Amino acid sequence: VRIRHSRGSYEVEIESLSYVLQSHPNALIVTDENVARFWLESSPFPILAVSVGETSKSMETYWQVLQFLAARGATRTSTVIALGGGVVGDLAGFAAATYMRGVPLVQVPTSLLAMVDSSVGGKTGINLPEGKNLVGAFYPPGHVSICLETLETLPAREFLAGTAEIWKAAAILDWALFEELERLPLVRGDTRLPQVVMRSIDLKRSIVEEDEFESTGARAVLNFGHTVGHAIEHASGYGTYSHGEAVAIGMVVEASIGERLGLTPEGLSRRISSGLRAQGLPVSVPSVGVEGLLGAMHRDKKAATQGLALALITGYGSCKLVHGVPEPVILECLQENT
Ligand SMILES: NC(=O)c1ccc[n+]([C@@H]2O[C@H](COP(=O)([O-])OP(=O)(O)OC[C@H]3O[C@@H](n4cnc5c(N)ncnc54)[C@H](O)[C@@H]3O)[C@@H](O)[C@H]2O)c1
Ligand SMILES: [Zn+2]
Repeated sequence: VRIRHSRGSYEVEIESLSYVLQSHPNALIVTDENVARFWLESSPFPILAVSVGETSKSMETYWQVLQFLAARGATRTSTVIALGGGVVGDLAGFAAATYMRGVPLVQVPTSLLAMVDSSVGGKTGINLPEGKNLVGAFYPPGHVSICLETLETLPAREFLAGTAEIWKAAAILDWALFEELERLPLVRGDTRLPQVVMRSIDLKRSIVEEDEFESTGARAVLNFGHTVGHAIEHASGYGTYSHGEAVAIGMVVEASIGERLGLTPEGLSRRISSGLRAQGLPVSVPSVGVEGLLGAMHRDKKAATQGLALALITGYGSCKLVHGVPEPVILECLQENT
């Protein structure tokens, strides 16, 4: 898949990790401790393995990455390889965007979520105590290498979280893929993974090429399931549900909101719900209080227009951003799916 952006384009390809490392002999690798342990044993490269988890998307770790690049004498001709999940991709991507005003970056996503979502689209960044992704840059990589063998060591729950984003892309953009997933949920080592992963990336490509800098609103449809999902992640305490699990529940609720508004085909919420359940994802709103969830939705920056804006399904494999969704409808649908 080739992805075009204002400054050029980059290719996303399935490649083996050993091939990728061989092709960049002068690379500096940024990774996390898990991925380093499984995939970089006795590697000759300069490696920085940051602590595992979201807390590494911090000013402190960003500083650590810059210091690593400077200490190893990185120049504009050095390549930074971001080898890891979305945390490493966002962190190392932002460091590559800013070190010497930008050095070549290769994204090598190792989680399913990073493969189908975060490694594509050029968004990089870190968090502030005040909120997620508040500092960052649009910085497209020079190349994205999908090394499917790395999924062998990905924990099952992380794999599942990635499948939620694939179901999402299918529901809003590719009904044939949705039916394929309905027929048989994805498993690790699935022979369909190469096609399904590349198809999901191509679907995200079709949206981000339309709206590279998230300025036209076109990119907002990728938030299907996310407005309710973020509220669930937040209200149930971060860590209770993974991002993908919360988004799975969010998709069911947002599909029923669409049905209630007469925008989404009747019965689609039920179909999404049974598909996701078969995949092993949760589909019921936890009993944390629907009022609290609505409050969290209002605080979510992606909903910060008049009333609530939601990406809603408008047909089999189509969607649009809908403004001013009435609160009573949201409350009812949250209640109904609890
Ligand atoms: N830039 C974007 O467009 C974009 C899009 C979506 C999400 N994100 C960001 O991505 C992050 C979430 O990404 P994530 O879910 O990949 O989280 P993550 O990077 O924390 O990875 C999840 C876990 O899996 C481990 N892991 C990753 N690959 C592994 C492998 N091959 N073997 C064993 N363990 C492995 C990691 O160490 C970690 O514990 C969030 O910070 C989110 O904001 C960014
Ligand atoms: Zn997501």
